[in-house]
Amino acid sequence: MPLICVCSPKGGVGKTTLTANLAYALSRAGNKVLALDFDVQNALRLHFGVPLSETRGFVAKATEVQDWSQSVLTVGTNLFVLPYGEASETQSELFTEALKQDKHFLARGLNTLLNYPGLIIIADFPPGPSPALKAISPMADLHLVVLQADSASLSMLPYVENQRLTGDVLNQKSGHYFILNQTDSRRQVSRDVASFVEQHLGDQLLGMVHRDESAVEANASQQSIFDFNPSSAAAFDIELIAKKVVGILGIEVGDGTVHSVPRMSGT
Ligand SMILES: Nc1ncnc2c1ncn2[C@@H]1O[C@H](COP(=O)(O)OP(=O)(O)O)[C@@H](O)[C@H]1O
Ligand SMILES: [Mg+2]
Repeated sequence: MPLICVCSPKGGVGKTTLTANLAYALSRAGNKVLALDFDVQNALRLHFGVPLSETRGFVAKATEVQDWSQSVLTVGTNLFVLPYGEASETQSELFTEALKQDKHFLARGLNTLLNYPGLIIIADFPPGPSPALKAISPMADLHLVVLQADSASLSMLPYVENQRLTGDVLNQKSGHYFILNQTDSRRQVSRDVASFVEQHLGDQLLGMVHRDESAVEANASQQSIFDFNPSSAAAFDIELIAKKVVGILGIEVGDGTVHSVPRMSGT
């Protein structure tokens, strides 16, 4: 704990990019961080230098293996990733069915990780509602909802506000916050969307992240944006958001450095 969920009604808005770079930012601040992938695309791992050929993950054997921490990969100092992994259609369906049928399934699989002292878990999801998001949400300490600075994303705001992502209040602990990604002050639509969400969401808007080629290139070179271009606008924005997350959750910086995480294999 703590457990953070990064979700959105839309795809392609930057959930995976932000999950990965927030994980980097939080680990750089001295916390142990696990980035957890619930998206069948299995792309989160690619932000952490895990090779394409590395297909291990927790989903393929999620119904057979009790403790999913066995599939965690160590990807840096204080930084771990639990990939979705390559899974057949049947394996993914079994996983989804177990999530829907057995309300203890997720808590059981993640038990070791959820109880690991000081470990921050940041989880990435497929777009829209998903059985994984629905199952994990009651356990989560914080939800971050990513929207893109365009009219298509904006039109989905009522969808989130009407509790359509999980069918319930998104988060009953520290609450849910929005991140507006890919803002571009040169574009009128981006400026309009930004000023609308600022007014409409108030403090619930945790931050905005500039549209920045460094985000794309950092991903392509499997690095964090902080390593790729520490002086980029998006690096600055994401760092600020990470600090706010730390503040909201009351995370004591350096909490996770004292222990070594057990049963985590290298890449
Ligand atoms: N702030 C940003 N500036 C520029 N490109 C971005 C930014 N955030 C994400 N992207 C790019 O947008 C695309 C979609 O991002 P991704 O994180 O995969 O979205 P999602 O997980 O929501 O589907 C990727 O090509 C990514 O590199
Ligand atoms: Mg994604």
